[in-house]
Amino acid sequence: MQVYMQGLQGQLPSLPVSPEALEQQALAHLSQKAAGYLAGMDDTMQANLRAFQHWSILPRMLRDVSRRQLSTTILGMQLPVPLLLAPIGVQSIIHPEAELAVARAARATGVPIILSTAASRSIEAVAQELADTPRWFQLYWSKNPDLNASLVRRAEQAGYSAIVVTLDTRLLSWREQDIQNAYLPFLQGEGLANYFSDPIFRQALAQSPEENPAMAIRYFIEIFLNPSLTWDQLAFLRQHTSLPIFLKGVLHPDDARQTIDAGMDGIIVSNHGGRQVGGSRAALDALPAVVEAAGGQIPVLFDSGIRRGSDVLKAIALGARAVLLGRPYIWGLALDGEAGVQQVLQNLLADLDLTLAVSGFSSISQLDASLLVNERPAA
Ligand code: FNR
Repeated sequence: MQVYMQGLQGQLPSLPVSPEALEQQALAHLSQKAAGYLAGMDDTMQANLRAFQHWSILPRMLRDVSRRQLSTTILGMQLPVPLLLAPIGVQSIIHPEAELAVARAARATGVPIILSTAASRSIEAVAQELADTPRWFQLYWSKNPDLNASLVRRAEQAGYSAIVVTLDTRLLSWREQDIQNAYLPFLQGEGLANYFSDPIFRQALAQSPEENPAMAIRYFIEIFLNPSLTWDQLAFLRQHTSLPIFLKGVLHPDDARQTIDAGMDGIIVSNHGGRQVGGSRAALDALPAVVEAAGGQIPVLFDSGIRRGSDVLKAIALGARAVLLGRPYIWGLALDGEAGVQQVLQNLLADLDLTLAVSGFSSISQLDASLLVNERPAA
């Protein structure tokens, strides 16, 4: 109501409310290279979005929804909303204040952050902006095990409460726009704050990264791509942290079972927003089988295609405990820095709260598959 009242008083939203219009405006505002980096394989991105349309909400009427509950608990961690900000690296190519602006918006709205290894600001600097806002750290598993352990240790010390290991980016995939634009931000030193500030990374170099950035970037390239990483190496991480470990990028139910066998604590179903495996299955279509394979033993989270409140409800009804918001907050960042991210988050949370209510539910914990109808034509 507050939002509608503001509109009636002439206070129009400063950013487009519809995610499609927001995206269009943000991409037009960014350089061709930055916009290309945000892109993915068009067919896979579209499949991610289309998958939500295969499910419809069947609302219930005349239930008391005057008080609503959006909070949730995952492995004993209290989340104010069933939403976290997905790890998105190199935000300095989007806005000069990068992850710091996002952290301030997260703090203002209470939405937890998952910070990328490839952030443009360090683990510690982002933690300082976040104050007591919940935060997790996403690890790209490099070829230097001591560096991995060091990043995790720094995250623990800076108050991050879970580690997310991204599985789908052991190699950078065939990214048409980046290849066309001859662009990879890391080669310009973007997104390397956590490496350059790390004592183990610095130790491995003959000179400091500040003195000789080209050499530091060469070392980063040498260790970042890690196609020989396999399941058995997860034991190393288990030994080096007592924090819960989530594996991000699981799509196959057998990989969900292997996640449990490897002693991991949670799964994030994701296809990296269609930026890794071209032609991959839409992430939402992969969710039910992964949830079934996890069998309630470990929590399953979801990303890739969350744009609206109804998308959040659908993913939760299909078994996700919470979802990660990806590109939409980056579009807000591109257009108006901290205020832009804050507006995107406020809109999404208001949309989620209202859609929950008008669907006839007062708590996200009540949602299950009975909320949904599968609209796919029978084969
Ligand atoms: C990502 N994503 C990502 N994931 C990750 O684990 N570490 C990272 O550093 C990044 N970086 C990154 C950069 C950009 C530009 C994008 C668009 C995505 C993937 C991200 O966490 C998430 O899985 C997707 O963004 C979800 O898809 P949608 O909802 O954004 O389409």
